[in-house]
Amino acid sequence: MNKLHDKVAIITGGASGIGEATALLFAEHGARAVVIADVQDEKGQKLAETIGTFRSTYIHCDVTDENQVKSLVESTVKLYGHLDVMFCNAGIASPCTQTVLDFDIAAYEKLFAVNVGGVAASLKHAAQAMVEGGVKGSIICTASIAARTGGDRCTDYVMSKCAVLGLARSASMQLGKHGIRVNCVSPGPVATPLLSNMVGKGIVEAEKTFESSYWLKGVMKVKHVADAVLFLACEDSEFITGHNLVVDGGFKSY
Ligand SMILES: NC(=O)c1ccc[n+]([C@@H]2O[C@H](COP(=O)([O-])OP(=O)(O)OC[C@H]3O[C@@H](n4cnc5c(N)ncnc54)[C@H](O)[C@@H]3O)[C@@H](O)[C@H]2O)c1
Repeated sequence: MNKLHDKVAIITGGASGIGEATALLFAEHGARAVVIADVQDEKGQKLAETIGTFRSTYIHCDVTDENQVKSLVESTVKLYGHLDVMFCNAGIASPCTQTVLDFDIAAYEKLFAVNVGGVAASLKHAAQAMVEGGVKGSIICTASIAARTGGDRCTDYVMSKCAVLGLARSASMQLGKHGIRVNCVSPGPVATPLLSNMVGKGIVEAEKTFESSYWLKGVMKVKHVADAVLFLACEDSEFITGHNLVVDGGFKSY
């Protein structure tokens, strides 16, 4: 417990799924402040209230708009003094129906604006605040095992997660001299609204679809990913940077 004692963290895409589970875990581990950044205002506000008004704030932030990301980081520093942890997690997925033969450029551009541009802007402004504040912070980006497996569909999503790995690896090299660590977490399929949309099924059905996909027995939950993010955020991983931590129960497809 208390692995994040007194730390200030921002979680993009923090209102739902993996981000929500991570926000709750960060708070449980003594974070001084967890800032939930998302476009789902009602869900985000409710979550911040659940954690507690003095320890959590919801800030509306569309990560595709760099000005909103800049303002998110500035508001956090103004409210809480500095920034220790940035979890660049907001993401979307288009329904997995198209192959490269009917690749939809407009959908790909929209998806890249969130999954790649949004992560780059979040990482950039968090790193700037950490450098300016002299904070040896931790930045974690959500990639996916899809970057390794490829996909018989979902090409744009796979491409976006490969880009996140490249961004995080490069940032880890550039920011190491400032004492800032940059790592990725790569989840396997876990039942959230995003996966549900991807496979075109309800959450329970989506979970069932992947039930026998892991070498480990059981079903993967968002808490398994949040545990890995906590590890990368806290001092237990103080000499780990440029790493891609896969959390997939030993997914069977590769
Ligand atoms: N669920 C999976 O199986 C899985 C597997 C691998 C990777 N991921 C990745 O995990 C991350 C979190 O997804 P999740 O599965 O928890 O899904 P989710 O849909 O539960 O959460 C994604 C959150 O991102 C927010 N978001 C979307 N666009 C945004 C924008 N422009 N600005 C700010 N916030 C925005 C959504 O409102 C939502 O709250 C994503 O990057 C996703 O690609 C998920």
